[in-house]
Amino acid sequence: MMNNISTTMTTTPTKAPAMNEPKISARNVQVYYGEKHAIKDVNIDIRPRSVTAFIGPSGCGKSTFLRCINRMNDTIANCRVEGNISIDSENIYDPKVDPVQLRAKVGMVFQKPNPFPKSIYENVAYGPRIHGLARKKSELDDIVSSALQKAGLWGEVKDRLDSPGTGLSGGQQQRLCIARAVAVSPEVILMDEPCSALDPIATAKVEELIHELRENFTIVIVTHSMQQAARVSQRTAMFHLGNLVEENDTDKMFTNPDDQRTQDYIMGRFG
Ligand SMILES: Nc1ncnc2c1ncn2[C@@H]1O[C@H](COP(=O)(O)OP(=O)(O)OP(=O)(O)O)[C@@H](O)[C@H]1O
Ligand SMILES: [Mg+2]
Repeated sequence: MMNNISTTMTTTPTKAPAMNEPKISARNVQVYYGEKHAIKDVNIDIRPRSVTAFIGPSGCGKSTFLRCINRMNDTIANCRVEGNISIDSENIYDPKVDPVQLRAKVGMVFQKPNPFPKSIYENVAYGPRIHGLARKKSELDDIVSSALQKAGLWGEVKDRLDSPGTGLSGGQQQRLCIARAVAVSPEVILMDEPCSALDPIATAKVEELIHELRENFTIVIVTHSMQQAARVSQRTAMFHLGNLVEENDTDKMFTNPDDQRTQDYIMGRFG
């Protein structure tokens, strides 16, 4: 009997977690840039198929912690990450994890839309092609159109797929970047202030899109806008000086936060 139990425990197959299991689990995460301790012992569970917002004053570590989730900090020379982060209970810092594969599973959208200097089609087709997701041209075409549809951009670009991605408006470029992330069928999408370069109409479109994407993806978004956090997220995490000071239901966070620092920040007393 005991034997049976220990066998099942050690050979648990990797599969999609149930709704009540976290998609992402961070334990005792520390990040250093040289001597600077930028993230201090952060512990957080992030729920699947939901939107979690990271808020906090400039320099508190939001982007640094976000980049831990797809190992983008690996690319920064003096940056060191300690602790444990797992996705579906698998340690993403395990030496056998290929960061390139990980970043297909955990896509990222940046503050400034950064399409490649290539056609709209090629911007979206690039990822699926390098990851071998299509066997023939028609399959690739389907992936591209489906990703553009999910990003709410298809109607605006379907007649100009061969035009340069850089020729789109800022808001369209950002949706193109979202399509590019979606095209490789990620499970998690990290967004670092994805609307800060967009006007209110383009912002509303991206927010609407986040709302739809939540059905299929786990989304983590960094934002300086309290209104945006309140509109798009179900959970909110507040960072301050490298510490995660509070993580709560978004409704509670913005009406009756537990931590004084959260209260001060949302009241505009600092940051
Ligand atoms: N590449 C780097 N080298 C050294 N220090 C860095 C680097 N990137 C960030 N830091 C430092 O780490 C801390 C956290 O920075 P981070 O960019 O994560 O903050 P943030 O919360 O995203 O801020 P913002 O809201 O301004 O984007 C800051 O003190 C910052 O100066
Ligand atoms: Mg940042």
